Amino acid sequence: MADTNPLSNCRFAFVGCGVMAEVIIAGLLRKKLVGPEQIVGSHPRQARREEMHVKYGVEMFESNREAVTETQPEGPDDSSIIVLAVKPQRLHVVLEELKGALVKEQLVVSIVTGAKIGTIAEQLLHASVVRTMPNTPAQIGEGMTAWTVSSEVNEKQENQVRAMLDALGKNERVENERQIDMATALSATGPTYIYLMMEALIDAGVHMGFSRRVAEDLVHQMMRGAVLFAVESHKHPAELRNMVTSPGGTSAEAIYQMEKGGLRTVLSKAVWAAFQRAESLGKTI
Ligand SMILES: NC(=O)c1ccc[n+]([C@@H]2O[C@H](COP(=O)([O-])OP(=O)(O)OC[C@H]3O[C@@H](n4cnc5c(N)ncnc54)[C@H](OP(=O)(O)O)[C@@H]3O)[C@@H](O)[C@H]2O)c1
Repeated sequence: MADTNPLSNCRFAFVGCGVMAEVIIAGLLRKKLVGPEQIVGSHPRQARREEMHVKYGVEMFESNREAVTETQPEGPDDSSIIVLAVKPQRLHVVLEELKGALVKEQLVVSIVTGAKIGTIAEQLLHASVVRTMPNTPAQIGEGMTAWTVSSEVNEKQENQVRAMLDALGKNERVENERQIDMATALSATGPTYIYLMMEALIDAGVHMGFSRRVAEDLVHQMMRGAVLFAVESHKHPAELRNMVTSPGGTSAEAIYQMEKGGLRTVLSKAVWAAFQRAESLGKTI
């Protein structure tokens, strides 16, 4: 039977083994897409290196450069992915350390918020770069990651990235970095919009007289159920809303107040402001 796993001959180097790198490593191993011998990581702290080695059986290096050179492909069927998973403020020092260490066949996948493909390519002297924008639910494998590629990335590498990002939840390849900024405003900043609404609804429940625990349970499950129903029914949100809006009923009364308060406009303005902020922050990294 043909091997359908795009990562079967791929080795990974995770530069900066914090929360997100660990989620990806754990996902890749759990799904048996790669074995621990295909993964190395680097981290400045010894305790963290030991923790990762004991937990996942992966080889850990103190030097980022050593981790990257360790995974260089040896034969024509081999491939290698370097995952940049440090905080944005550490990126430049790491890129400086890795400059000139990569061979042409290696692929760089950055999960660093705001870091542009051009910046990474220029500082590394390396052309094949993928930029991703995950969100916080990725930490429990329920994330939404948008990603885009430099023109040197080939189809095989794209399939490998798709398989890797499945460890964080769902993913969508977008056309360019402007759309990465758009996804930053929508899906990456998005949990904030939901948490604010969640908090407001829980407080409203407490205001009516529920205990906080009961209000939280009611709101959490209501939100989970509403999202799953929307996804599974494939209906337009307005249609779903109409289904529960009976004449003179509670939903009609509540919708009237939300529209009067400008909720729709506020959300639209919030997303647009986040998009503009993402664009301007991108110029500083
Ligand atoms: N967490 C999320 O949900 C999320 C969502 C979207 C995007 N992102 C992006 O993903 C990236 C990683 O985020 P994270 O949450 O995984 O952060 P994190 O947990 O802080 O991981 C980064 C790791 O890099 C280590 N580090 C520091 N300096 C280093 C160096 N010079 N070389 C190698 N490693 C170094 C840090 O060590 P110390 O702990 O010792 O400093 C830390 O363990 C960030 O750029 C973030 O913007 C994260």
